Parts: sequence; C-alpha cells; structure tokens
Amino acid sequence: MAAKTIVVGNFKGGVGKTKVSVMTSWEYANVHKKKVLLVDMDPQGNASTLIARSAGIEEINKTIFDGFKEGNLQDVVVKVTEHLDLIPAAVSFKNFSKFLYQTFQNDLEQITLLKTLLEPLKANYDYIFIDVPPTISDYSDNAMMASDYVLIILQAQELSLEGAETYVSYLQFMADEYEADIQVLGVLPVLLRAGGRVDQSTVERATELFGEDNVFKNVIKHLERLKAWDMTGIKNEDHHDRKAHQTFLDVVDEIEEKLARFEEESVHV
Ligand SMILES: Nc1ncnc2c1ncn2[C@@H]1O[C@H](COP(=O)(O)OP(=O)(O)O)[C@@H](O)[C@H]1O
Ligand SMILES: [Mg+2]
Repeated sequence: MAAKTIVVGNFKGGVGKTKVSVMTSWEYANVHKKKVLLVDMDPQGNASTLIARSAGIEEINKTIFDGFKEGNLQDVVVKVTEHLDLIPAAVSFKNFSKFLYQTFQNDLEQITLLKTLLEPLKANYDYIFIDVPPTISDYSDNAMMASDYVLIILQAQELSLEGAETYVSYLQFMADEYEADIQVLGVLPVLLRAGGRVDQSTVERATELFGEDNVFKNVIKHLERLKAWDMTGIKNEDHHDRKAHQTFLDVVDEIEEKLARFEEESVHV
C-alpha cells in the first residue's frame, strides 16, 4: 500500500475546496473503508474544525506546524475514525513561510518539505487528501509538490474559469520550474449558490481547456445541508443528510474510475 496523494485545488476562496476534501476523505474512509489521511495545509483550519466537530474531538494538542518544526508528521496525526486520520492545522501555521526561509536556503527544499515528511507515512494509507488555502503560496507549492494528482474545483455557476485556469497555468509553471510531477485527476463542477444550475458555457470552456474526459460527469449541487454541517458537524440522520452523502459517494465512484484509467495508461506505456 502506497497512498495516492490528491490535492483539491483552485486559486479562489469559497469555492468548496474544503468541503470536497473533507467529504471525499470521509466517504472513502467511513463507507469504502479505505485508509485515509486528510492533511490540513490551510492556517484557517476549516477542514480541521469540521472534522473535529463531526467526530466529537474536543482538544487538539499538536498541529501540522509542530510536525514541520520537529521534522516528523507522524506524531501530529490525529485518529478521527477507524479508517480516517487527520493532520490538523491552526492559526499559528501562518508563520510557515518565515520558518521555511529561516530553516532552508534552497527554494526546492522549502517547497518539498511536505513531500519529504509525508513519504514515511504513505505506506499506512490508501489515500492522502490535502486541503489548501486559495493562494499561490508556500502552502500550495508544498501541496503541489507532494501530490500525485490534483482535483480541480470548477465554479460552475460563474461565467469565468478564473480560479481553475490560474491553478492550471501555475501547475504548468511548477512542472517547468521544479519538475513537479502531478496529473490532473479531473475538474469537478461545484454549485455554490442556491437555486443555480450549471452554466453550460463554463463547462464547455472547461471541456475545451481540460479535455472532455477530464470534466466530472457528477456535479456538486448547492445543498443547504452541506453548509449546515459547518455548525452541526457531519450527520447521517435524515434524508437530507443521506442526499448530501450520496453526492460525495458518487464523486468517489468517479474518482475511482479516473484513477483506474490512469493506472491502466501507465501500465501500457
Ligand atoms: N455544495 C455546497 N452547498 C452549499 N454550501 C456549500 C457547498 N460547498 C461548500 N459550501 C459552503 O460554502 C462555504 C465555502 O466552502 P468551502 O468548502 O469552505 O470553500 P473553500 O475551501 O474553497 O474556501 C462554506 O460555508 C461551506 O459550508
Ligand atoms: Mg478552504
């Protein structure tokens, strides 16, 4: 077992990155019984808060920044459920860049610290998901360098691909500059506004840009329940909860199909 590492990306805030990384991890672990590690690379710690609230975790003593400073992430892993682990983040993580510059001279070392420290953990997991802030920063650079795949979020109601497009051109830059070896797993349309539907011209442009095979057939709809879980934690008590879970179970199925295709291609090459 060597974990497939997936970053959920888009250079815009409030597009659903955290919800997708948390829920995908949740369904893989708790329904599919895969061993999953969710890495919170965002100093806002939204993923950590949602997971802690959902699993009734009241106290977190050590966070990802402690792990970076100690050169060991194993000790900051929090067990969430039988199959789900979390590396939590907190606001103190805002000093990550300062720490990197003081500790490493070489910029490649600065942006590959997460990759280096995740390596020994990979044998314990089937999947590692990384949640990142919406900035081009040491957080997203480290996440990119550590990942095998990126799941790009497409704001499917907006008339622009802005956050997704920037992400892809930056990915290209990182590949040229630092030989980042990361594949686009797919582009997942998300509807964040109520009552909206997918803007077809946005999807068409995404299809042109990324290729038809790369745009997910599943769409994450706007569901009030998904927002409500921020306050209540993730639940599974009524049909609204079940519908919200089903949305992400469908996405997990499609991720599996896409991963299988990548594996096949790499075998045939
Ligand atoms: N599919 C959805 N339906 C309704 N609300 C959503 C959905 N996905 C995310 N949200 C809400 O939108 C806000 C932003 O989502 P979040 O995942 O935190 O975005 P990001 O990580 O990209 O900033 C949060 O309040 C979240 O609960
Ligand atoms: Mg977020």
